[in-house]
Amino acid sequence: MPVYVVVGSQWGDEGKGKVVDALADKADYVVRFQGGNNAGHTVIVSGEKFVLHLLPSGVLHKNAQCIIGNGVVVDAGVLLHELHELEKRGFSTEHVFVSDRAHLIMPYHIALDKAKESARGEEKIGTTGRGIGPCYVDKYDRVGFRVGDLLDFATFKENLKKQLDWKNKILTQLYQVEAVYYEQIVEEFAIYAEKLKNRIIDATPILHKALEENKTLFFEGAQALMLDIDHGTYPFVTSSSPTVGAIASGAGVPAQKVNRAIGVSKAYTTRVGEGPFVTELKDALGEHIRQKGGEFGSTTGRPRRTGWLDLLVAKYAVQINGLTDFAMTKLDVLTGLDEVKVCVAYQIDGKTYDYIPSSAHLLAKAEPIYKTFAGWQEDISKITRFEDLPKTCQDYVLFVEEQVGVSISMISVGAERTQNIYRKSLWA
Ligand code: IMP
Repeated sequence: MPVYVVVGSQWGDEGKGKVVDALADKADYVVRFQGGNNAGHTVIVSGEKFVLHLLPSGVLHKNAQCIIGNGVVVDAGVLLHELHELEKRGFSTEHVFVSDRAHLIMPYHIALDKAKESARGEEKIGTTGRGIGPCYVDKYDRVGFRVGDLLDFATFKENLKKQLDWKNKILTQLYQVEAVYYEQIVEEFAIYAEKLKNRIIDATPILHKALEENKTLFFEGAQALMLDIDHGTYPFVTSSSPTVGAIASGAGVPAQKVNRAIGVSKAYTTRVGEGPFVTELKDALGEHIRQKGGEFGSTTGRPRRTGWLDLLVAKYAVQINGLTDFAMTKLDVLTGLDEVKVCVAYQIDGKTYDYIPSSAHLLAKAEPIYKTFAGWQEDISKITRFEDLPKTCQDYVLFVEEQVGVSISMISVGAERTQNIYRKSLWA
């Protein structure tokens, strides 16, 4: 059973990094296929915290080849910084490679991201400001720079000059912000080219050879379904497709090769940035969950919005991704509450919805309809068998499982690599 995909089933920050890290010791390849350093995947090993933005979470397992696939947008400076930080902490990074087809986030993408957001004012999206959207815009406008372009630096420099004239006009004349400087970019990117050249590969034949040899491939999604450019809460979304199907476009591996598609969902919900969030708790309980769950962005440090689990979102994640399993994270954060709620439907303008309407405007008016469960008070953070969880806690998980129709195969009850309950082998 060699091809696994792990994707976010909510609005990101579900704990995908932890799930990938916990499983990646059996992987021969761990591959990112979309997004960029807007992601922040936290992995805790023996009390030591690692926050990875661009590197696949499998990087801590030296036997797994880590590939940043063609669908990723790469900030080369951030990539080198992350590699350097890991090396300083004694980790080898020789197994990290980047696709020559992946697009480069250029300094003007970051400047444009920030300028656009500030021009939007009240209507801002709340992006991470990492240049993700503008980089994908250039990719689809066919004026982007690819990682492989760094290998022919003379041509890169020539094309950069042409692009920069245009981009600086937009920055200075339209948005009235500072220009970015050619010489400075050339100087920076010459260093990146030199330092990255041995890691730049054509990933497609390598991955297909791995498939032929029946190697175990792990695809690590960033962000999540509800931030998907097509299926998410548009326009409050990211600029890529964080779904299982996107491994075809973002890594060149057909989706029908996937054996297990694991959706990661918190036992509650969080969201950073703007946009509709039907089960949001704007009260003291929301604050309690934020504090107890440490719900502050690992990329931007922004406080995350918090709320109850939304089954419409979870079912949608099963449908769009063809999930075979769920990994439910942070169940321990709900310990100590008198009651725990889960949203089973929406009420919008007097009509009941059992699916997510496409309009952000409609969603903003939705009222959640909840099913309420008794809470539990016992510490569950050291439990490793489902049967040992308090009965009320089991009831909650079993209800969610029955509703979504796929197995909740893994439950995470703490931040450490080992704090997991496995209900069904993810390897069978
Ligand atoms: P962008 O991806 O920086 O363009 O941001 C677009 C939206 O996606 C914003 O609401 C961000 O907060 C959100 N977003 C992007 N990446 C992540 C992530 O890894 N976790 C959670 N939210 C994210």
